[in-house]
Amino acid sequence: MIVIATAHPLSPPWRKEPLDPNALHAGVWPHSAARNSDGELVFGGVSVSSLVQEYGTPLYVMDKDELVDRALRVKEMVESACKAQGTTGKVYYATKSFVSGHVVSWLSQQGLGFDVASGGELAIALAGGADPGTLEFQGNNKSAEELLVAMKAGIGCIVMDAPIEAARIQAIAEELGITQPVMVRVNTGVHADTHDYLATAREDQKFGLSPAESIELVEHVRTLPNLKFVGLHSHIGSQIFAAEGFLESATRMMATYAALLQTGEVEVLNLGGGFGIAYTESDDPQDLATLVGRIVDHVGHEAKTRAVPMPALAFEPGRIISGPPGVTLYTVGVTKPVSVSVPEGGSATRLYVSVDGGMSDNARPALYGAHYSTRIASRESSAAPALVRVVGKHCESGDIVVDADFLPGDVAPGDVIAVAATGAYCYSLSSNYNAMGRPPVVAVSDSSHELMVAGESIADVMARDQGFGSKSEGAHA
Ligand SMILES: Cc1ncc(COP(=O)(O)O)c(C=O)c1O
Repeated sequence: MIVIATAHPLSPPWRKEPLDPNALHAGVWPHSAARNSDGELVFGGVSVSSLVQEYGTPLYVMDKDELVDRALRVKEMVESACKAQGTTGKVYYATKSFVSGHVVSWLSQQGLGFDVASGGELAIALAGGADPGTLEFQGNNKSAEELLVAMKAGIGCIVMDAPIEAARIQAIAEELGITQPVMVRVNTGVHADTHDYLATAREDQKFGLSPAESIELVEHVRTLPNLKFVGLHSHIGSQIFAAEGFLESATRMMATYAALLQTGEVEVLNLGGGFGIAYTESDDPQDLATLVGRIVDHVGHEAKTRAVPMPALAFEPGRIISGPPGVTLYTVGVTKPVSVSVPEGGSATRLYVSVDGGMSDNARPALYGAHYSTRIASRESSAAPALVRVVGKHCESGDIVVDADFLPGDVAPGDVIAVAATGAYCYSLSSNYNAMGRPPVVAVSDSSHELMVAGESIADVMARDQGFGSKSEGAHA
């Protein structure tokens, strides 16, 4: 008799029930993820039990070797694709995806530059030992104070987002007696194939200037004595799989570049970041070297067609470097089967698995409806798969960590679960919602672990609150 497995009625169509709910899908989990002879997960040669014993949960775990390797590979891909087109290519790691002193030191050793988007990210990059000349400062509202600090430090480049910035940067540069390299951010109007809120190069949004406005601003910048216009910048969005948006945006950038070449020099085109990664087994990002090669070759083709010199190129990826090497560990506190009516009639059960973190350590599901993948990390189980929703402990029904995945049906309080691909935009978007401390971040490599960022205790969370009077000493102890 042939038994046809029917999909769980509450499972989204893209989430396939696994034959083995202990198995790790390659491409979603860090390369070093494996199960040891006790069945527990090991990352970078370090078992989950030893990590939890040392640091507790929730815990961000970063596979250092994979992070560094990804950074180096992206840099090499960009350099070799650009070399093939007779130009140079640089990579600025987008610190907004995840940054700490260790990250800056590891990636600057690999020769990457850094894209910083605030005075805080700038301070971390500088304190982490980045060469200021390898930094570029982005943002639609850089304060005068931030600009001053950046320019005093000798920042490599400031990406201007609005005409009003020209006079501000000129005044500071004049006062410091320097010539400041600047770029202009172009809103190419391309709708990237991604979630609405992640698409940053649409018409009606806050970043950049239209090509026509950009040309006007560049012409003005060229007249300012203390500014040196070095090139154009664009970033069309994040978590993008399809090449088409990148290619169309590059075409429009090349048109603007060609127009500006008629009146002066334009050295660099920075084409931004945004390369997508696999969060679930249904995500199928194309080979990055191929994608980068296509974009660079496309620029080469455009240069030939327009009979203009090939510009130097730059990219500023974040997630593709820091996302896949990260996982988050949580302890299960409560499990609860919830019976849900289904459109076909009757009901089906979804097992809610409540963990000791949530939207304060991973805001992406609540912000973007992002999907993640999970496994029991502390043991293997032979129980049949159950459709689960991993939820946090915050006071929001949207406090979802993994909206739909299959775990062994005997998942229970005390189990440690791991959520994959949380290296980017989780720690960096974390908050103290419900007065919870942010989890620590630990690096694993070569069977050892190292604290990257300490976690916050409740006392840490309370420490800035001035309203406890004399009771505060006890509370902060
Ligand atoms: C201007 C800019 N550059 C680079 C990035 C990095 O994007 P990703 O991490 O998707 O590569 C972002 C992300 O928001 C961005 O806004």
